[in-house]
Amino acid sequence: MKCWERFAVEGLTCVVTGAASGIGLAYAEVMAEAGAKVTLLDIDGELLHEQVTRLAAQGLDVHGEVVDATDRSAMYACFERIGERYGRLDVVFANAGIDSGPGFLDSDGQRCAQGALENLEEAHWDKVLATNLTSVFTTLRAAVRLMKPKGSGRIIVTTSNAAMINEAIVGTPYMPAKAGAASLVRQAAMELARFGINVNAIAPGPFVTNIAGGRLRNPADRAAFALRVPQHRIASTEEIKGLALFLASPAASYVTGAQIVIDGGQMLGRVD
Ligand SMILES: NC(=O)c1ccc[n+]([C@@H]2O[C@H](COP(=O)([O-])OP(=O)(O)OC[C@H]3O[C@@H](n4cnc5c(N)ncnc54)[C@H](O)[C@@H]3O)[C@@H](O)[C@H]2O)c1
Repeated sequence: MKCWERFAVEGLTCVVTGAASGIGLAYAEVMAEAGAKVTLLDIDGELLHEQVTRLAAQGLDVHGEVVDATDRSAMYACFERIGERYGRLDVVFANAGIDSGPGFLDSDGQRCAQGALENLEEAHWDKVLATNLTSVFTTLRAAVRLMKPKGSGRIIVTTSNAAMINEAIVGTPYMPAKAGAASLVRQAAMELARFGINVNAIAPGPFVTNIAGGRLRNPADRAAFALRVPQHRIASTEEIKGLALFLASPAASYVTGAQIVIDGGQMLGRVD
């Protein structure tokens, strides 16, 4: 087998949560374009229908299901249906996530009262943790039930470089939620290695998506984030596809428990 043939994912069954937009949509696109059978899950039925229709019109093997990743029983039922439909699950991207409102500083570096610790709403904390951490746990559980009997599988979690570096202009609940997801990836990787299941994280820096109401399309926010990236720019979701394909493919057979950062060098520190 040639080395490049180890990047093939043709015929694999794949599930992506939060797949109707942004990074999750990019994962679904690259997997389907490379010949995988992809189930796109999202809470936004209208957007999901639009994207699944668009991809299906290109002849890709895609299927959509509206499901809230924080709804445990709905998620387990959904994965059971996927198991019945395809008979196996090879790859899952636990990607659904939300932003966490304003940070304690705004884009101009001024204190933001709404983001101050004492003003954060508890319900908001609960929602961010439920979506960005607990839903990952739910997705892993649902996926492992299908993967373990086959003795193989790939689980890829979208964390963030905010799992490792703290951010003043991002709402406070985001960082502990992503750090928790990153820890869960390592824990699951240790446990599942002997069952042939690799568990890894993709930790993006700033990408232009619909997160936070498409905040990174706004010139002021875009400039504030770009300044803190050595490449001095925000990424397009096209740029995450190669890494997603690699982690899902046989080429990554010995990669597990890793968190791969894709952030234009942001973790290295600011370079003016
Ligand atoms: N865009 C960035 O700069 C960036 C950076 C680091 C990490 N991330 C992470 O990437 C992931 C994807 O975010 P994105 O930037 O593509 O955002 P996005 O808003 O463009 O896409 C997120 C998708 O998830 C869906 N979703 C939200 N809550 C859901 C739920 N409870 N159940 C099912 N679907 C749900 C949304 O409807 C949407 O389609 C998130 O986990 C986010 O934290 C994004």
